[in-house]
Parts: sequence; C-alpha cells; structure tokens
Amino acid sequence: MAILKIARAGHPVLLQVAEEVVDPTAPDIRALVRDMVETLEDAGGIGLAAPQVHMSARVVIFFVPERRTGDDENDSAEELTVMINPIIEPGAPDTELDWEACLSLPGMMGAVPRFTQIKYSWTNLNGDAEERTASGFHARAVQHECDHLDGILYPMRMTDMSLYGFAEEVNRNRDLMMSARPETEDKADADAEDEAEE
Ligand code: NI
Repeated sequence: MAILKIARAGHPVLLQVAEEVVDPTAPDIRALVRDMVETLEDAGGIGLAAPQVHMSARVVIFFVPERRTGDDENDSAEELTVMINPIIEPGAPDTELDWEACLSLPGMMGAVPRFTQIKYSWTNLNGDAEERTASGFHARAVQHECDHLDGILYPMRMTDMSLYGFAEEVNRNRDLMMSARPETEDKADADAEDEAEE
C-alpha cells in the first residue's frame, strides 16, 4: 500500500494515450488500484485515473457523493467504482456547462461542456463486463476521468477560457463571471458548491 505522487499539468504522462490493460485480473493491476484508492482518499478527490499517478494504463476509480446527485434517476450516488478499459457512448447530443476541478491542476477550476447523458461500460477487477447509464454530475465525472486516459485535461475541453481561474477566486465570483458572459443556452450551474477534484 502506498500513497502515490500525483502528476501535475505540464507532465507529459498526462498527455499520453494510456495503454489498454491486457489482463484486468492481474495482481499488478489490483495492486495499482489499491494504491490509487489510498492516493484518492489522501488527496480528497472524487476520481483518479492511472496516468495521474504516472501509470500509462486504462484504469479509473471514482465515486459519486450523495450531495452531488440530481433529480434524474441516472444522476445517482455511486460507491467507489473501479473501471478497467472503460468506454463511453453519448446518450444524446446535448451538452451542458458546469464547473470542474482536477487533482492534476491543484487550486484551479473551469466551466467545461460535457454530454448530459452517457452510457459507459468497462471491465471490473474480476474480469467481468459491466455497464451503466449516467446523467448530470455522474456523467460529467466519468467523462472527466476517461478523458485522462486519452491525454485530455479539462481545460483542453473548455470553450470559454474566461471561465477558468483559481478556485478560491471563482468560488467567490462565480455569479459575476457567469453574468459577464454573452447569453448562451448552457449557463454553468451556479448552485454547485465546493468543486470536487477529479
Ligand atoms: Ni482530473
């Protein structure tokens, strides 16, 4: 068991396409996941992808806390989920803008457009195939984490860089930042409180 060092933006490991895991049941994958869980608990985030701990492997862990769930039944709380070789399919073309943070960009946050509904599938540590549908924050968290496997950090998905800044400032000025933008359909949700880091 070990707490691993988290790569910060600027490290090339975060920009690589991570390698497919050939045997999801392999002991070294189980050991990696154990260390990732410990690292996530220590860092206080809600999700972590293997490239963030300097491992080029398609492995993601995440959970959805109860306080981040919505009215939709697919925007539900989830226990810690371990995904090997996950795949996402958008459920609809609709996107929405909301705030995100990332353990690899400590102290920063930005408003990112994401699909509102997705279907996602993966292999678990026993080698079994699993799948779920998700919406809202749950869908956003999965898209954020899986992007790490393709070398994509959330600012690379942003369409309005005026909505990027230090979390401390953004949290104070969120309404002001949103009102300074030209009127668009996808206003970032101003209710979200402290941003979970992923
Ligand atoms: Ni992240």
